[in-house]
Amino acid sequence: MASFTISARAEQHANLRPLSILRDLPAVADLIEMCFSNTMDNEGKRYVQDMRRAGKDNSFLRWANRAAESTSLPLTGYIWEENGKIIGNASLVPFRNRKHRVYLIANVAVHPDHRRNGIARALTERAMRHAHEKKVSNIWLHVRDDNPGAIELYAKLGFVERARRTSWQAVTDSYAPTLKTDIAITNRHPRDWQTQLNWLSRLYPDLLAWHRNWTFASLRPGLWNWLYLLFVDMNVRQWTAVRNDRMEAALAWIPDGRGESLYPAISDRSDPEALTALLLQARRDLSPFYPRISLEFPSTEFDGAILAAGFKSLRTLIWMQATL
Ligand SMILES: CC(C)(COP(=O)(O)OP(=O)(O)OC[C@H]1O[C@@H](n2cnc3c(N)ncnc32)[C@H](O)[C@@H]1OP(=O)(O)O)[C@@H](O)C(=O)NCCC(=O)NCCS
Repeated sequence: MASFTISARAEQHANLRPLSILRDLPAVADLIEMCFSNTMDNEGKRYVQDMRRAGKDNSFLRWANRAAESTSLPLTGYIWEENGKIIGNASLVPFRNRKHRVYLIANVAVHPDHRRNGIARALTERAMRHAHEKKVSNIWLHVRDDNPGAIELYAKLGFVERARRTSWQAVTDSYAPTLKTDIAITNRHPRDWQTQLNWLSRLYPDLLAWHRNWTFASLRPGLWNWLYLLFVDMNVRQWTAVRNDRMEAALAWIPDGRGESLYPAISDRSDPEALTALLLQARRDLSPFYPRISLEFPSTEFDGAILAAGFKSLRTLIWMQATL
């Protein structure tokens, strides 16, 4: 596993200081909005608005000041200030993976007039040192695959690509077409659970599980799990694509409030048509409840099958990791 030592230089810049939640949120929101305007989707716009609103809410600010190191919100970070103006930012978002703590470095942004002066490098290095000081050795970040400058920046700092994943979205539609195929869509049968879990574990590996706030155990068959889901009011749906009595692929819908909620399970030898048929079924069945559905999947695997079901690719993110 790649490991990296942070240079002491990261602390020597007079213009670099910790983010002050009480003071800086509105200016950081403006900077993020400007720097990401080309690629910002609705979720990103909401995020910036929330940040601005939070910056004006005194009770939130008092709470956030205390909670900065324990919530999965970007409340910790570093900024670069010149002549009283914030021109650079790097946020640190804490996550927990079982017993281990993980940091995500996010919102690395530098004002366009001040780029290529080493500001992002200094901010990212300082964020890495922060993790080191908190005894967190596992640091991640997400970078779009069409952002070579940022990829180079992180690679120079010791980050290594661990996964490349595409986010997809489709509108639901009760009239979405049905494929002409010999593959049948059925409810998930309990005997297929172990295979489904094996396939899910390949596509959504443990290495990336720190980003999820639940486990695939919620898809397990049986009365106890059914009662549990009822108790926590979690409306899970599952379908399987079957040919000649054999499961070709499965699809689960897990509403997690964040939108990326469809989890296909498929083997690399399965017929891609099975995935297309399942996704079309989900577009039909979920149309009374949700206007749009999304999924996140290893990029290039089954891209054609996902496109054929009427999904559009929103972005491909490279997941990079550094171990301190
Ligand atoms: C990406 C970004 C943060 C870089 O900020 P910056 O302060 O200009 O970066 P630095 O000067 O610290 O660059 C350090 C190294 O990263 C690489 N790098 C940074 N920007 C680059 C670019 N546009 N093209 C090629 N390499 C680049 C270079 O290797 C550079 O070293 P060098 O200048 O000695 O060649 C800035 O361009 C930005 O805010 N972009 C928009 C928001 C964004 O994409 N953020 C990243 C999200 S993951």
